[in-house]
Amino acid sequence: MINIENKNIFSKAKVAIIGASGGIGSTISRQIRAMERENTIIEIVRQKAKKNQFEMDMLDEHSVAQCAEEIKKQYGSLDVVLNTTGLLHTSNNSPERTYREINLDYLQEIFQVNTFIPFLVCKYFAPLLTKESASIIAFMSARLGSMSDNRLGGWYSYRSSKTALNMLIKTLSIELSYSNKNAICVGLHPGTVDTQLSSPFTQKIKNKRVFTKEEAAEYLIKALNNIDHNDTGNIIDWRGETVPY
Ligand SMILES: NC(=O)c1ccc[n+]([C@@H]2O[C@H](COP(=O)([O-])OP(=O)(O)OC[C@H]3O[C@@H](n4cnc5c(N)ncnc54)[C@H](OP(=O)(O)O)[C@@H]3O)[C@@H](O)[C@H]2O)c1
Repeated sequence: MINIENKNIFSKAKVAIIGASGGIGSTISRQIRAMERENTIIEIVRQKAKKNQFEMDMLDEHSVAQCAEEIKKQYGSLDVVLNTTGLLHTSNNSPERTYREINLDYLQEIFQVNTFIPFLVCKYFAPLLTKESASIIAFMSARLGSMSDNRLGGWYSYRSSKTALNMLIKTLSIELSYSNKNAICVGLHPGTVDTQLSSPFTQKIKNKRVFTKEEAAEYLIKALNNIDHNDTGNIIDWRGETVPY
């Protein structure tokens, strides 16, 4: 159960973290676990590295459905669902600097991870959110997905995959507002964080702060603790402020 009024939403909560192997996902998981003993952290990964983790092929609908069913069987309903999967570069491809670099294989892979996985998470994990009290489903988005904030151009695939994700978040928030009024659905922007996803690019970033994973997780946990039903459908950044669509 999470108490949205007063505030450690992770206290005594059942929290599922999808992508708990990632830089941000694993650090959030560790920090929430360290808070107290009475919460339940359910780590979902594509390749199990620890005994209690759930393995899920995130792009296989049957596997996602089975994993959600198993979690429901073991834990019943959930208080918090956090999707922290994401992709920016692959072994062969990096974000496009110009439209001339658009490549269908890269575009498909980026959309699969950044957009299609959240669609499947929405379909199979939103029904697990408790109806008895407040609950949160949050997806890692990015400021780069904001249309109105796009002043630099470039990174066509990543930007567009996150913009599409933002539409999923908004649309799901509307459905939840009548099918599960207690549920809050948000996107999160963590800032620039030193992880495997960003490491090829962080050296080039000047005049911009790069957070450690620990800092980012702390900020995101605090931001999640401060949201309420007025925030549903929005993208919230590490400071707790709304990122314009
Ligand atoms: N780091 C930043 O500066 C930054 C900025 C803005 C937004 N974000 C967003 O924050 C989220 C987390 O990023 P991060 O920095 O923690 O990245 P990360 O350390 O690279 O973690 C990425 C996660 O996504 C999973 N993943 C990647 N490809 C996958 C696939 N094909 N199928 C299933 N899972 C896959 C990874 O699983 P494996 O461990 O199995 O590979 C890992 O759990 C992403 O959505 C990212 O877009 C990050």
